[in-house]
Amino acid sequence: MHLLHVIGSPRTGRSASRQVANAFTEVWKERHADGTVDELNVWEIDLPVFDGPVLEAKYAGIEGRPLDPAQADAWRTVNTLAERFRQANVILFSVPMWNFGIPYRLKHLIDVVSQKDVLFTFDEKGLNGLLGGRTVVTIAARGVQLGADFPPEQFDFQTTYLTMWSRMVGITDVRVISVERTLAGPERDHASRNEASEKARELARGL
Ligand SMILES: Cc1cc2nc3c(=O)[nH]c(=O)nc-3n(C[C@H](O)[C@H](O)[C@H](O)COP(=O)(O)O)c2cc1C
Repeated sequence: MHLLHVIGSPRTGRSASRQVANAFTEVWKERHADGTVDELNVWEIDLPVFDGPVLEAKYAGIEGRPLDPAQADAWRTVNTLAERFRQANVILFSVPMWNFGIPYRLKHLIDVVSQKDVLFTFDEKGLNGLLGGRTVVTIAARGVQLGADFPPEQFDFQTTYLTMWSRMVGITDVRVISVERTLAGPERDHASRNEASEKARELARGL
């Protein structure tokens, strides 16, 4: 078994999403003694700006044209990153809510790897994700609580986005754990982290 942990928070010691994700990973590792974990920290890797040869490679692929050497080289970077998703049985996203969405570096990674014939196919029959059979676990941290003041159908572009992305690449087994009210004072923050960590351990026991 192989777990890919996509780290979306630039915080290190104080990250709520990472703390809860670590609780998940610890139990997952106990359950899968031979399991391997790949950490992909979106703040520490080089992500290609999506213009020039890599953009042209995308359109060449869509339009069925051969890639020139610069485009082929750029496309290798896409495939190298996408391979880390293909290798995984479980994809774990630890993600802070930023402006009710996801941090731009995580969106950047998703825009780089989510390519036709890489993570999905797209033709006259429609969209077909290539990562079927995998599980996505999203650990979503946020300062507020979604609900009456922030109805999720209007304010949640965080978990809904990652769930949509999972479906787009063919993954229907999507589990979400939220850690909310991390900005509601130290006590509430602490309690929220503990409650979510317990849920994460429980989830890991079943995966
Ligand atoms: C740039 C930025 C934007 C944020 N926007 C929101 C927001 O829209 N809604 C919210 O509930 N919290 C927001 N927060 C608070 C974070 O979601 C909260 O601190 C969360 O715990 C961050 O996760 P982390 O601790 O794993 O980094 C924002 C924080 C930052 C740094």
